[in-house]
Amino acid sequence: MISTKDAFVVRGLGGKRSLSGIIKVNGSKNAVLPLLAASLVCKGSFTISNVPLIEDVFRMNELLSDLGVAVTTEKKRVYSYDSKNVRTTELDHEISKRFRASVILTGPLLGRFGKVSFPHPGGCVIGERPIDIFLYGYKKLGAEVSETGDEFLLTAPRGGLIGASIFLPLPSVTATEAFVLAALQAKGITTIKNAAVEPEVTSLVEFLISAGASIKGAGTSTLEIHGKKGLLNPRNIYKTIPDRLEAGGFLVLAALAAKDVTITNCEPEHLEIIIETLRRAGVPIEVGKSTLRIRSEGQLSFIGSGFKTHEYPGFPTDMQAPMTVFLTQAKGENLIFETIFEGRLAYTQDLVRMGADITMWDPHRVMVKGPRKLKGKVLDGPDIRAGLAFVIAAAVAKGQSVINNIYYIDRGYERVEERLKAIGLDISRVIVS
Ligand code: EPZ
Repeated sequence: MISTKDAFVVRGLGGKRSLSGIIKVNGSKNAVLPLLAASLVCKGSFTISNVPLIEDVFRMNELLSDLGVAVTTEKKRVYSYDSKNVRTTELDHEISKRFRASVILTGPLLGRFGKVSFPHPGGCVIGERPIDIFLYGYKKLGAEVSETGDEFLLTAPRGGLIGASIFLPLPSVTATEAFVLAALQAKGITTIKNAAVEPEVTSLVEFLISAGASIKGAGTSTLEIHGKKGLLNPRNIYKTIPDRLEAGGFLVLAALAAKDVTITNCEPEHLEIIIETLRRAGVPIEVGKSTLRIRSEGQLSFIGSGFKTHEYPGFPTDMQAPMTVFLTQAKGENLIFETIFEGRLAYTQDLVRMGADITMWDPHRVMVKGPRKLKGKVLDGPDIRAGLAFVIAAAVAKGQSVINNIYYIDRGYERVEERLKAIGLDISRVIVS
């Protein structure tokens, strides 16, 4: 059992390019979580493979079991779900608040059972994480919303949700996923405009279609769901798509410290903007069908360029922290504009303590001047992606770093220290509690 107080101890490479070997990418956290939620709208048993063994999956399994879903481990990274005995539509408070994706469950529960109660979801400290778009969309589908303290109760009309046209004020990823799952059994057609088009959303829509749902517009920002009574029939095992954010984080580490590293089991097509950004800076990346390789005998020098985070296929906000670490090692003055979340740049102050030259202009923008040598420090990871960024910075730094709060890293990366150790990084997990 991983305690919330575990820490990583990393001995930095001091700028040497010595990592070599193969690092395998696991299934995508942000693809598997909505797929697990979809078990609530499936008849019989639904099996999913390539499931990453991460804390958020364990929490989702706990939530589903608490609702009455039978969760079975078929074998390592293969789980089956049977929702025929769901006995409640109340989401457990304590578990729901530990991860944002719990909010996705409101969609299938409201769509199938006509009601759901839940707390305001938790998640990273990257911003306020409001749920106003969820409440707006559910009201459009005919639901009543009542709020007592931190608890929300949604109730559908007696005959169930009524199909509607929902124009998302922001292309919210989990709101898109929740509305698709809610609309499957609504009366009539639901159109979602300005829908998120991340690969993880498309993977959910493609799974639902394969299980008998009638949805048009997969992969586009306009989804049309034809509501049908009854549950879906998943026909075969559904394989979780590779995690583009794991692959992207490993690619940045390899860009900075690889002698010869190959990243396997990834989907380069989902990483195009990361690959292009690094190539433009001077990183030699060899792209295969499901692999990325970086090799270099001697030192490399990079010329950085600023970037602005943007919904897919633009620069992903979940790659902003690792790429910022890369820019501390590249020549130039580069502005980073985090457009999605208002609290996702606080970690840069810790990079400054390590020796980086980063000036915060406002909650959405920092200026990075590089290259600067980094020194190992004691760091507290504030969220999943900044946590991995600290591992990358610690790997590049001179001296030892201790990264606390690695529960956050374990939320999104399965035993990452074992895979990094295998390519030559001196990293170990210290049980602090
Ligand atoms: C998903 O979060 C991802 N999580 C996040 O990854 C990712 O950073 C984010 O999408 C953006 O790509 C999962 O898929 C489980 P949003 P989500 O709703 O859906 C605002 C990680 O590290 N908003 O697309 O919660 C929101 O504040 C995590 O894996 C509202 O204003 O993000 C943000 O500014 C971190 N009201 C913007 O929309 C709402 O009701 C986009 O957020 C909902 C969202």
